[in-house]
Amino acid sequence: PPDPLQQHFDDTIARDHRVEPRDWMPEGYRRTLVRQIAQHAHSEIIGMQPEGDWITRAPSLRRKAILFAKVQDEAGHGLYLYSAAETLGADRADLTRRLIEGRQKYSSIFNYPADTFADVGVIGWFVDGAAICNQVPLCRSSYGPYARAMVRVCKEESFHQRQGYELLLTMMRGTEGQRAMVQNAVDRWWWPSLMMFGPPDGDSPNSAQSTAWKIKRHSNDELRQRFVDMTVPQAERLGVTLPDPELRWNEERGSHDFGTPDWTELQRVISGDGPRNAERVSRRRAAHEEGTWVREAAAAHAAKQAERREE
Ligand code: ACO
Repeated sequence: PPDPLQQHFDDTIARDHRVEPRDWMPEGYRRTLVRQIAQHAHSEIIGMQPEGDWITRAPSLRRKAILFAKVQDEAGHGLYLYSAAETLGADRADLTRRLIEGRQKYSSIFNYPADTFADVGVIGWFVDGAAICNQVPLCRSSYGPYARAMVRVCKEESFHQRQGYELLLTMMRGTEGQRAMVQNAVDRWWWPSLMMFGPPDGDSPNSAQSTAWKIKRHSNDELRQRFVDMTVPQAERLGVTLPDPELRWNEERGSHDFGTPDWTELQRVISGDGPRNAERVSRRRAAHEEGTWVREAAAAHAAKQAERREE
């Protein structure tokens, strides 16, 4: 006879209902979600670093306030996501340990350096733009806490994307040097941004099962295509050239054709050998160690409060 728990889970997925923390779920579903949500959380936290580097060097008070707010939002996203992982029985301290020991992944994109202030704009435009393409469908992901966390995350990402684009529009109205700086940042970030969506569908080992479970709603290549189609007209309006000689409109498909990212580079960066991997992880480790006294003080305070309640 069919297992009634499995049957109930399968029906929940088939009807597009949400799986909630107290529901029974297959162990593989739980593990896949912890893997994806933890990687996602780590990406938000590590992702504070490339732009965070510019907070002390922002060119005006206004730009500094915007950048501060944006980087703080990323910290908030990390926290919602760690909380979502905790609803699956994961332990946040354990996830952090795995990250700083290099045993869990985070997005490849944050292993590239932010060389100039134009990079802040391009990261907002490309990286947050790609995050929106990837994460809007995750608002309909089958696991309730993850899907709900994504709603607020996406609203904030869309502010981030606009602030980046607006910064670039301002720079493009500036001097010749500023325009060159924007084009240079576009040249460096374009291909790594396309790699954020993951390997091509044929080389994506997790896609089939994650799609069957409705964790993923679109394939890596579909979302990459969507990002290209969204970004090309924005590049035209801005007046920059995307560094891909094969990029052109395909009337028949109603989409842009584009070149192939360097997949060996993606593999290299994922496996720890990107331009800034070592620095990103060691800074995260240092921040964790420097925060030990805060965690200890918070735990001592909580214990005292609990003692008082008992009295
Ligand atoms: N950077 C680092 N690792 C990656 C990347 C990438 N750009 N793309 C794929 N990988 C990893 C996968 O995590 C997987 O490794 P694992 O099996 O050890 O976990 C492996 O490469 C093979 O990839 P897929 O089978 O395609 O993996 P998956 O189905 O998980 O798809 C994807 C990858 C699309 C990134 C998915 O996990 C996802 O949608 N995650 C949520 C969004 C997210 O994490 N965004 C972070 C960047 S955006 C931001 O923070 C602003």
